[in-house]
Amino acid sequence: MRVGILGSGLMGAKLGTIFARAGHDVTFSYARSREKLKKLAKDAGGTARAGTPGEAAEASDVLLLAVHWSRFADVLKQAGSLAGKIMVTCSLPMNDADTALVVGNTSSGAEELVKRAPKARVVSAFNTVPSEVLFDVFESKGKGTPPNLVYCGDDARAKKAAVELIRDAGFEPVDAGPLRIARYTEPFALLVGQLAYEGKAGPELAYRFVRFGT
Ligand SMILES: NC(=O)c1ccc[n+]([C@@H]2O[C@H](COP(=O)([O-])OP(=O)(O)OC[C@H]3O[C@@H](n4cnc5c(N)ncnc54)[C@H](OP(=O)(O)O)[C@@H]3O)[C@@H](O)[C@H]2O)c1
Repeated sequence: MRVGILGSGLMGAKLGTIFARAGHDVTFSYARSREKLKKLAKDAGGTARAGTPGEAAEASDVLLLAVHWSRFADVLKQAGSLAGKIMVTCSLPMNDADTALVVGNTSSGAEELVKRAPKARVVSAFNTVPSEVLFDVFESKGKGTPPNLVYCGDDARAKKAAVELIRDAGFEPVDAGPLRIARYTEPFALLVGQLAYEGKAGPELAYRFVRFGT
């Protein structure tokens, strides 16, 4: 797939590199320095390149949105028309201090994104894993039972693309249902973050669901 990265920080840089190494055509965009984007593209290899958010949106069928909540408006404005584009958001609607969700309960960051980009095909994925585990999970692909990764969305085409990217990154996708389920997965992401960053185990945490009974 042609994948544009909107936000090339901890999540976007790593996932973009992983997608490029899995054979996707990746455009890195949205960092404070163009040099960083160029280096990311060079290190990722393959056909990866650096661009502006507008170029990334233009050149891609799938966009990964990986920016802080406070940067949503700016990056969406720079990306331009998102009509028909699949948008995988790993972003969480965090406050400026990154201590709490600013949207929750009756809505989610993913649903608010649909309001801001109503013509995009939005799916929520990858926000329930700490970025530090991504390369290890990718490198363990094909060895043993993969960790799960929950995703949700209302658009079948977007969900199919997300499933492909989730598998390519080394996870087993778990369909959590429609996009409104992001009201549960986004707080779950904070729980995972709390366990990974504040717990003694450190950021090695990925997870596996086991269903008991019916
Ligand atoms: N990190 C995690 O483990 C994790 C896990 C789950 C979900 N998330 C969510 O994923 C999203 C991204 O998180 P992250 O940790 O990847 O954030 P991050 O490392 O801060 O990356 C954000 C990107 O936006 C760029 N940026 C910020 N302000 C900008 C500006 N004014 N102009 C141009 N570019 C700008 C940054 O540029 P620079 O590269 O120059 O800094 C960076 O590339 C957030 O919504 C977060 O809640 C993160």
